[in-house]
Amino acid sequence: MNIREKDGVIAVASDHAGYLLKSILCEDLKTLGYQVLDLGTDSLDSVDYPLFAHDVAATVASGRVGCGVVLCGTGIGVSITANRHPGVRAALCHNVETARLSRKHNDANVLALGARIIDEKTAKSCLRAFLDTEFEGEGRHERRVAMIDTMVSVGNNTTR
Ligand code: RB5
Repeated sequence: MNIREKDGVIAVASDHAGYLLKSILCEDLKTLGYQVLDLGTDSLDSVDYPLFAHDVAATVASGRVGCGVVLCGTGIGVSITANRHPGVRAALCHNVETARLSRKHNDANVLALGARIIDEKTAKSCLRAFLDTEFEGEGRHERRVAMIDTMVSVGNNTTR
């Protein structure tokens, strides 16, 4: 499935550290023809990243949007937070290859970026790769992605 199917709406949020890059990516998304659901933050004032990552993840999990983008200084805090939501697969990406493979192999539906780690050009490239790549589906990747949630929900989360 194409993650852009939900009317082309993409939920985006960041903490203060990701605010400037978020603003740039929101404009980029609009230029590319997407609708942006900007869930904050709205300034450089210090805020707590879980508040914003939870909002994007909940919006994706609800099915209201097909995918989301979360940013903080490293991308680590927002990705950990987003991944607490069942059905959300947030991928912390640092380059085009990780962004592409997060879609192709993991069917990631949230892109996490570290605004203090990657530059603007790389972030834009990651975003495009994430949006333009389809999940390979069927076969081993589909089986493995299904296992992410089912092995937790049935309590069968041992490795062997
Ligand atoms: C904020 O200073 C920073 O800790 C936050 O943006 C993020 O990097 C956390 O994972």
